[in-house]
Amino acid sequence: MRVFVVGASGAIGSRLVPQLVERGHEVVGTHHSPGNADRVRALGATPVTLDLLDPRAVRQAVLEAQPDAIIHQATALAGLKDLKHFDRSFAQTNRLRTEGTDALLAAAREAGVRRFVAQSFASYRYERSGGPVKTEDDPLDPNPVSSARESSAAMRYLDEAVTGAGGVALRYGGFYGAPDDELVAAVRRRVFPIVGDGGGVTSFIHLDDAAAATALALEHNEPGVLNIVDDEPAAARDWLPAVADLLGAKPPRHVPRWLARMFAGEAVAMMATEARGASNAKAKRELGWTLRYPSWRQGFVASYATIGQSTDRTEVPSR
Ligand SMILES: NC(=O)c1ccc[n+]([C@@H]2O[C@H](COP(=O)([O-])OP(=O)(O)OC[C@H]3O[C@@H](n4cnc5c(N)ncnc54)[C@H](OP(=O)(O)O)[C@@H]3O)[C@@H](O)[C@H]2O)c1
Repeated sequence: MRVFVVGASGAIGSRLVPQLVERGHEVVGTHHSPGNADRVRALGATPVTLDLLDPRAVRQAVLEAQPDAIIHQATALAGLKDLKHFDRSFAQTNRLRTEGTDALLAAAREAGVRRFVAQSFASYRYERSGGPVKTEDDPLDPNPVSSARESSAAMRYLDEAVTGAGGVALRYGGFYGAPDDELVAAVRRRVFPIVGDGGGVTSFIHLDDAAAATALALEHNEPGVLNIVDDEPAAARDWLPAVADLLGAKPPRHVPRWLARMFAGEAVAMMATEARGASNAKAKRELGWTLRYPSWRQGFVASYATIGQSTDRTEVPSR
């Protein structure tokens, strides 16, 4: 297939493009920063500069590329720090998930593109009651915390627009595996505490496994949502000390929920104490997907164990 990957230069896009090429696809890969053309070319794709928030440019790029399939992986979360003002930090990403999706779907319709796959998100979105692990059939949180309401609505919008158009929305877990991972840096600096009872469940996914599932989803004929997460959703009280230990960092501090809410905001307090994880059973069954890192335990060791052995515990390698 001829595949148009939006966000080919990003954390997931740069893992995905080589896998698509290896599977015999021809890839046109977009980047937003002008300096990333060489990076995209080196991955094996034909680079195109594109602002997804410019619908005319999107239309022109898609009509020129004449792809069989479009994969939307554009977000603007690099260097994300301020989760207290969650919606403000996610504002540009929310536009990419709403306006950007609309522009791509309109261009896809006009160009007769048959397949559409887009990045969505699983962690922290499901209803905060009932069991700790949710399937795609379980309800999303009907009352997202107020600071993250717009971001929740943007993800819901993307899910519905994409599946309504016959595409696949991939609800990824929390990405890890990039050498400059913010979470790893925070754990090493001991600024990622266990909040309250640490009962909030996270579903992780290694970037390579996320890319592999995405390549399979491209060849999948059923529209719908799929959780792309690993086999071991884990509460913060379990995964945080394990990751700190692996990195050679001191054990995480403990803070009460009210303090986390005051300093890091209600979204972080919710994620740390109430969030539910996601099940990957449907994605495995429908895509025939097998994970290289079925648990974050193996994945974090494979990605970051050498960091733990480094003598300088403040240095984080660049991507
Ligand atoms: N995805 C999530 O939901 C999420 C949530 C929290 C944290 N994170 C973490 O944040 C880090 C990076 O996040 P990321 O995936 O957003 O950044 P990224 O790795 O930089 O990928 C974003 C992609 O979207 C492109 N892009 C950005 N603005 C665009 C626009 N206006 N039009 C078209 N394309 C545009 C970027 O192009 P250029 O690179 O060329 O500018 C890049 O290819 C990762 O480590 C990830 O784990 C991600």
